[in-house]
Amino acid sequence: MTTAYKHEPFTDFTNEETKNAFKIALSQVQEIMGNDYPLVIGGERFTTEDKITSINPANKAEIVGTVSKATKEHAEKAIQAAAEAFESWRNWNPEARADILFRAAAIIRRRKHYFSALLVKEAGKPWNEADADTAEAIDFLEYYARQMIELAKGKPVNSREGEKNNYIYTPTGVTVVIPPWNFLFAIMAGTTVAPIVTGNTVVLKPASTTPVIAAKFVEVLEEAGLPKGVVNLVPGSGSEIGDYLVDHPKTSLITFTGSREVGTRIFERAAKVHPGQMHLKRVIAEMGGKDTVVVDKDCDLELAAQSIFASAFGFSGQKCSSGSRAVVHADVYDHILGRVIEITEKQIVGNPENAKTYMGPVIDQNSFDKIMDYITIGKGEGRLVSGGNGDDSKGYFIEPTIFADLDPKARLMQEEIFGPVVAFSKFSSFDEALEIANNTEYGLTGAVITNNREYIERAKREFHVGNLYINRTCTGAIVGYHPFGGFKMSGTDSKAGGPDYLALHMQAKTISEML
Ligand code: NAD
Ligand code: ALA
Repeated sequence: MTTAYKHEPFTDFTNEETKNAFKIALSQVQEIMGNDYPLVIGGERFTTEDKITSINPANKAEIVGTVSKATKEHAEKAIQAAAEAFESWRNWNPEARADILFRAAAIIRRRKHYFSALLVKEAGKPWNEADADTAEAIDFLEYYARQMIELAKGKPVNSREGEKNNYIYTPTGVTVVIPPWNFLFAIMAGTTVAPIVTGNTVVLKPASTTPVIAAKFVEVLEEAGLPKGVVNLVPGSGSEIGDYLVDHPKTSLITFTGSREVGTRIFERAAKVHPGQMHLKRVIAEMGGKDTVVVDKDCDLELAAQSIFASAFGFSGQKCSSGSRAVVHADVYDHILGRVIEITEKQIVGNPENAKTYMGPVIDQNSFDKIMDYITIGKGEGRLVSGGNGDDSKGYFIEPTIFADLDPKARLMQEEIFGPVVAFSKFSSFDEALEIANNTEYGLTGAVITNNREYIERAKREFHVGNLYINRTCTGAIVGYHPFGGFKMSGTDSKAGGPDYLALHMQAKTISEML
């Protein structure tokens, strides 16, 4: 009998003992810097000459690890290995599959700080963000394992006299998993184990900036007893092997999380039927966001300022859920803007290995350049009131940056920047606030800070986002509590960490037997 699901608690880093434990984990992870990781196909290791190099974004000179880079031939081998393993894995008892997830969760929990320390190194996450990412990975394992045990019972349907009807869920087949780098542990692990626990087999192509944590996670799954070929690890170029995996006639499900650009490309490609293909492919695509925190004049002003700040700058604004737009009532606009500037300018930006750092670097040179370009655009579109500088000499550091007085249709208010930049815009009626909140092509998260009950009810009906938060930040969804997924061009609204998620990886089968 499994216990009821509860999310993994966050670590209290104000505790000196915990702080020391985390420092020890950082030094343990230091010892594996620069290690080399092979491809894993059908349980076998393959090492290639050509490598993907993962570097520490806070210190470009430090190599976190190198991983072998898969070619199309490796991708083909991986699909074949997954297809072969599917024939036996699909028949495993769902509880036994769930047990592998429970064991993997236990393994990670025992070495929690070690994994979080690796995230500090590989993605430049400050301690609390790294800890939350590891906690979420554990949550996905614990939650999906329990969900599978439930789903295995099927769903009730009616039977007429003389017949017995059953409605059950069966696996789909070979699943291509393509995660992003920003929740390098949680999303990579969650999108890998959801197909696995539902009886599918996986070809995992991790993000090229963060492949080391994926290699470590595959080791955990093996340690937990996952049979050979059920997960196959093929780091590689998106354009080279990504397309190959997506197009493959044996691929039956693609689960992607990343940018709108790549997600829509995959969605379109997956629609084409290739020779030898016996089924239509399914696509789960969770994509970008341009998320808004709306602040009404009748609200807790300090909560509003703190919510804008935390939504905008947590993990350097590199969350799909980041609140990169603050839409504030004219009567409280100056006060809120001033207070957000005050809070922001007190924060320490720098090396994420330092316990006091609030914000570390952005992920790589491309992101750094793109964000700095948006800061230049912002200077033309609005009023720069805080930050605005970047330094990529040692790592990819950008100051938390605040722009005021943006037109709601300005590029800064419309396009996903994916960095520590927040744009402020004013409104004078709640109708106008909702109009601005809904005026982008995205619909992922949003928050409304107000004491006005009528406005809360209106937001519930009229603010078109997959995750709406009232009187809190628009980031920080917890598995099993805040199922996560977006509307509009933010994706297929698959609601990761929610009760409907696993069924998306399965085919429902109706069996009607005459008695
Ligand atoms: P990205 O689209 O650049 O890359 C995502 C993944 O796609 C990577 O593994 C990449 O290697 C792969 N890829 C690239 N080209 C490919 C191709 N042609 N075929 C197959 N795979 C290919 O995104 P990113 O920079 O890793 O992540 C940031 C984006 O992800 C942001 O837009 C963010 O909003 C979004 N995101 C969304 C969610 C969500 O749940 N909605 C969660 C996290 C991140
Ligand atoms: N789960 C992440 C958040 O809500 C994306 O911030």
